[in-house]
Amino acid sequence: MKTKIVIIDKASFQDEELWEAAKILRSGGLVAFPTETVYGLGANALDEEAAAKIYGAKGRPSDNPLIAHISAMEELLPLVTEISQAGRRLMEAYWPGPLTLILPKSSMVPFKTTGGLSTVAVRMPGDPVANRLIKLAGVPIAAPSANASGRPSPTTAEHVYQDMDGKIEMIVDGGPVGIGVESTIVDVTGPVPIMLRPGAVTLEMLKSTVGQVEMDPAIAGPVAADVKPKAPGMKYRHYAPKAELVLVEEEGSGQGQGEVSLKAVEAIRAMTLDQLSRGRKVGIICTDETKGRYPKEAEIRSLGPKDSQEAIARNLFGVLREFDSLEVTLIYSESFPKDHLGQAIMNRLTKAAGYHIIKV
Ligand code: TXA
Ligand code: MG
Repeated sequence: MKTKIVIIDKASFQDEELWEAAKILRSGGLVAFPTETVYGLGANALDEEAAAKIYGAKGRPSDNPLIAHISAMEELLPLVTEISQAGRRLMEAYWPGPLTLILPKSSMVPFKTTGGLSTVAVRMPGDPVANRLIKLAGVPIAAPSANASGRPSPTTAEHVYQDMDGKIEMIVDGGPVGIGVESTIVDVTGPVPIMLRPGAVTLEMLKSTVGQVEMDPAIAGPVAADVKPKAPGMKYRHYAPKAELVLVEEEGSGQGQGEVSLKAVEAIRAMTLDQLSRGRKVGIICTDETKGRYPKEAEIRSLGPKDSQEAIARNLFGVLREFDSLEVTLIYSESFPKDHLGQAIMNRLTKAAGYHIIKV
């Protein structure tokens, strides 16, 4: 299959530039498109065969459910049987935006879309291209991140092309995304909302809107083989770079915007020198404040200023992909404060590291 690329200017596009993409989606094909979080790989969420094609293109296990994307409130009602009060308040506060809600599904949503679950994940993206494309398609759009299963989520159309060329009908290129980590997922089917995946709608924000919020244990660490995480996607090794990734954390530096973590910098420096002397190609993930402190022979990548969680989130997946193409075999990463957006950053980094953390 030849993958067509359509370039769209987010700030000033006409509907007709999206008509072909909308037509492909309506007729059961696959189109990758930008959202504010990461690029999505879209298909008609109500069409079993179209949803099945997504699993094929991504190489994704078919028990891993998809998020149905909508463009307006009235599109939600046919998809669900009930909306809890907490669900309603969260929608009012954060839709359109980087928040996915788990709700009880109606019979209209096929089990192929929900991986056999009786709930459905729904999100209304705020990105203007995504929103308009869904509206023009006239159907809810199932869209996982547009990466091959196990690779870091794509934050540019170029990343999508690397993984999906020849496998999907079209890529809509709307430029780099704004947020860079996937949406926050909250299960609002029970009495207390449960956060299943941290994202740009932070725990602090959720609590300020609905009070009590619980956290799924799969966010904090690896789940035992016999435990079924609530978001099935959390059990797969995600965001994995090809190289071994080791996260270096300074004991007691988990919270707040601290000083530059010198102990961690020193430890990474020493380990890097040792590994370089053994002939290994080493990558380092750091910040603008610390990038000058490492051996020049390593591949050093800053995610941005240490106080800008937004920059760090936006650059994270791109840097992991860059290390794949540089063919480093070992990556050391600094750690980041876990408050606000930092919870999502550290969740993705810890998973990319396969929970390999060195405390110093
Ligand atoms: O930001 C995002 O959410 C992006 C963009 C494209 O919208 N999409 C995304 O989709 O990250 P995906 O498929 O990569 O991740 C969806 C996550 C998976 O962990 C999946 O298991 C979980 O949502 N999920 C989907 N439906 C669910 C359900 N009914 N119950 C629990 N978890 C669900
Ligand atoms: Mg994904």
